[in-house]
Amino acid sequence: MIDSQLWRSAADDVHWYQAPTRLLDDSQPPFYRWFPDGVINACYNAVDIHVEQGRGQQLAVIYDSPVTGTRRQYTFDQLLEQVSNFAGVLLAQGVTMGDRVIIYMPMIPEALIAMLGCARIGAIHSVVFGGFASNELAVRIDDAAPKLIVSASCGVEPSRVVAYKPLLDGAIALAQHKPQSCIIVQRPMQEASLVAGRDLDWNAAMAAAQPAACVPVNANDPLYVLYTSGTTGQPKGVVRDTGGSVVSLKWTMKNIYNVEPGDVYWAASDVGWVVGHSYIVYGPLFNGNTTLMYEGKPVGTPDPGAFWRVIEEYDVKVLFTAPTAFRAIRKEDPEGKYLDKYDHSGLRALFLAGERCDPNTLEWAQAKLQVPVIDHWWQTETGWSICANCLGIEQLPIVPGSPARAVPGYDVQVLDTAGEPLPPGEIGALVIKAPLPPGTFTTLWNAPDRFVKAYFSKFPGYYETGDAGYIDENGYVFVMARTDDVINVAGHRLSTGGMEEVLADHPDVAECAVIGIADAMKGQLPLGLLVLNAGVERDPADIVTEVIQQVRERIGPVAAFKLCAVVERLPKTRSGKILRGTMRSIADGDTWKMPATIDDPATLDEIGAVLKKLGLPAA
Ligand code: COA
Ligand code: AMP
Repeated sequence: MIDSQLWRSAADDVHWYQAPTRLLDDSQPPFYRWFPDGVINACYNAVDIHVEQGRGQQLAVIYDSPVTGTRRQYTFDQLLEQVSNFAGVLLAQGVTMGDRVIIYMPMIPEALIAMLGCARIGAIHSVVFGGFASNELAVRIDDAAPKLIVSASCGVEPSRVVAYKPLLDGAIALAQHKPQSCIIVQRPMQEASLVAGRDLDWNAAMAAAQPAACVPVNANDPLYVLYTSGTTGQPKGVVRDTGGSVVSLKWTMKNIYNVEPGDVYWAASDVGWVVGHSYIVYGPLFNGNTTLMYEGKPVGTPDPGAFWRVIEEYDVKVLFTAPTAFRAIRKEDPEGKYLDKYDHSGLRALFLAGERCDPNTLEWAQAKLQVPVIDHWWQTETGWSICANCLGIEQLPIVPGSPARAVPGYDVQVLDTAGEPLPPGEIGALVIKAPLPPGTFTTLWNAPDRFVKAYFSKFPGYYETGDAGYIDENGYVFVMARTDDVINVAGHRLSTGGMEEVLADHPDVAECAVIGIADAMKGQLPLGLLVLNAGVERDPADIVTEVIQQVRERIGPVAAFKLCAVVERLPKTRSGKILRGTMRSIADGDTWKMPATIDDPATLDEIGAVLKKLGLPAA
């Protein structure tokens, strides 16, 4: 059942050039359209409106970069100037409404300015995470066919400077589609050489820019495309519309996160991920919050007190990050000694998402911070949380291991393989009754058929989340595991299928499998198993080194693909299906049953011996 009153009043809370008279167009399921006749602009709602309402002097963006020793701040007045100028730069380059712009950037304010500049003129941005390599970027360039790419000369990781520009040049060389121009932010740590006639320097382009005004767009026009991992190496381009995003994200700021305009809100993530889109850029700015862009890590920049330093320095009210960040902090500072060095009394709540939050981590964070620690469950596809303890509505008792109940707008159910509802406590497929609420994805870019097939065909009338879990008697949802080949490494969503495609390309590899195994810090890590072609006489260790390098080069360092071994054969069913689940259980040290359909039980003993050599299961 659609909560018409909720979404009408949420829609009344944002700025429209033409307010929608219709709430939902459900004439072509599963392609639902919210606010179909509304006319709006996301940048106006994020920036201009606050200046017009007298918040021009308030801080809009704080940039804190321990890896470069830099701090910068922008008021809404200053942000408006920057964004209007960048929108002008885009127009001067011939970018107009509906054109795509790829943004391949480190965590610097120019990334946020570029996103808002696109939104200002109705161009569709597609941000690609900086930890992806040229090949992944090239796949996205070919799918999105951008007119222009915005990038930077380099990113800065604690241990090294990552030259982005050669990765960008490599991607453009690999891609069939060629952008007309690139705008490059030159960073002093490593400047890049520019390609004459194609590349423009950010500062020079901004200095010459004519500021551009907001362009009204239809509510259902795409705000952005964000690629995410699916079952295959071809990523899915999640399309988010403009009206739904503005309405839903603004609503979540008060109702889920319980922040008021002016509060400092910090999502310690990256603009390349959905968390960055929704909660570094759009949500906080729609709500008039000050958002924090942090270019650093929870540990090592310089120590496990990094987060507490930022919380004290800027009086952060709400922090949102992935559980892995807290596992990293806890590992280095189990007693929380660094926490005592800083005043974190302003912090009101910690929100965690991106992967399953183990109860130990949640309880540790709660004991140390003495604030509610809220696990909430969501996906790139939904753009905001499906289940959460909505602090702005009513704080429910916290049950570690559960992201609490479905958020208003989501009807979450558990179905068995035949599509029948399961009783409380029984594990099945977690699904959401269609339509999904505003701000969730409206289709996949260039792939409407895949949108229907991947998400709405197995359980007609429902959105298949790809997660398995159960709902208890109190309506608390427990998200246990993915039902597909997606794994979560340090909160980063990756496809084991995509990694298998890279391994299979090695000339000596006959067959392979990649599985996600449990890791105490990163949640999961990929493990590759290779079967070599008959007659290959090279040292298997060299082949392993080569495929590890190949994954780093083709997917990127973010895949954290470092565990790999050669095996004689892979365990399979009699019909030839690789028994990935059983191998995962052995690697994780879980109890497992010999599958009835196994072709040759001895293969599992062989795998067990190989895993043991790799130190698995880890103690
Ligand atoms: N550009 C280029 N390379 C990048 C990158 C970027 N933007 N981000 C990460 N990488 C590289 C890292 O340098 C590392 O390379 P390495 O193999 O040479 O060491 C690799 O990708 C893996 O990075 P990461 O996942 O960040 O692991 P880490 O070991 O450096 O740090 C954590 C581990 C837990 C501290 C870190 O992952 C973290 O803070 N995660 C939580 C927050 C988060 O980002 N969540 C995302 C969704 S909310
Ligand atoms: P992403 O699209 O990168 O946000 O990843 C989404 C996936 O991360 C979900 O489908 C889940 O598998 C997992 N995930 C995200 N948040 C949670 C959570 N709070 N609990 C369990 N799993 C989660």
